[in-house]
Amino acid sequence: MAYETLIAETRGNVALVTLNRPQALNALNSTVLKELKAAYAAFHADEAIGAIVITGSERAFAAGADIKEMQSLQFADIYKSDFISGWDDIAKARKPVIAAVSGFALGGGCELAMMCDFIIASETAKFGQPEITLGVIPGMGGSQRLTRAVGKAKAMDLVLTGRMMDAAEAERSGLVSRVVAPERLLDEALAAAEKIASLSQPSVMMAKEAVNRAFETTLEEGLRFERRLFHSLFATDDQKEGMAAFVEKRKPAFNHR
Ligand code: HXC
Repeated sequence: MAYETLIAETRGNVALVTLNRPQALNALNSTVLKELKAAYAAFHADEAIGAIVITGSERAFAAGADIKEMQSLQFADIYKSDFISGWDDIAKARKPVIAAVSGFALGGGCELAMMCDFIIASETAKFGQPEITLGVIPGMGGSQRLTRAVGKAKAMDLVLTGRMMDAAEAERSGLVSRVVAPERLLDEALAAAEKIASLSQPSVMMAKEAVNRAFETTLEEGLRFERRLFHSLFATDDQKEGMAAFVEKRKPAFNHR
């Protein structure tokens, strides 16, 4: 399917979404949201796809929500339409999503990266929540997801000053899982996605659910939830196949059932 603001393609069992509004450093406008939702829905409907990579250009993952589109909005209208809430669908993707970030990931761009399951950054990546410099605050989860990712001190520093942090600081802080040379970024992210896509889809999806539950509940409930998911995986063909393959010293052939 052809889109105006992004390129959606498949590489084997991996989906690759490339944000493509170079004239605006991939600023996230309503068309990007609409198209991203459509692309994600198509990839979720495609049984063959086991993981998604989302990336931007070398210069920018995304420089934020589109300021020119937001500039003249009025309170009553955005309150009544619950402006921004559509991004929740992106955050709720059930298949694993990896953000491959090069250049600017600012405001909504940083927030979009944080909606993914993990972030692989190029050495050129710059993360920030500069909304405060525009007279607003993060609106797509920055004050919440950034704080959970890096803790209060660093989140306050970034959200209150609007400064950017480089890839090394982002890795030290726990925002990104790996930093790689710019020319390695896409290969590294696609390889991670391919690895995930080669595994049993039910176990991958439950692993994602279990880790995410750690942010939503108490330790006791989280442990119970994890254990129940663990138990339920013994109802799958893939658990039988995965363990048999280990014992028989061969590669498993998962059927994702
Ligand atoms: C609309 C944007 C944009 C944005 C860049 N552009 N960011 N357009 N919305 N968020 C446009 C510029 O207007 C310009 O187009 C072109 O992209 C290139 O940008 P430059 O500023 O000329 O590039 P440079 O000097 O290299 O500076 C890069 C930059 C700067 C540091 C990233 O563009 C910048 O500060 N951008 C805004 C970052 C920001 O504040 N993001 C948070 C947005 S609020 P023209 O045609 O003008 O030359 C937000 C809220 C999220 O994200 C939650 C609510 C939805």
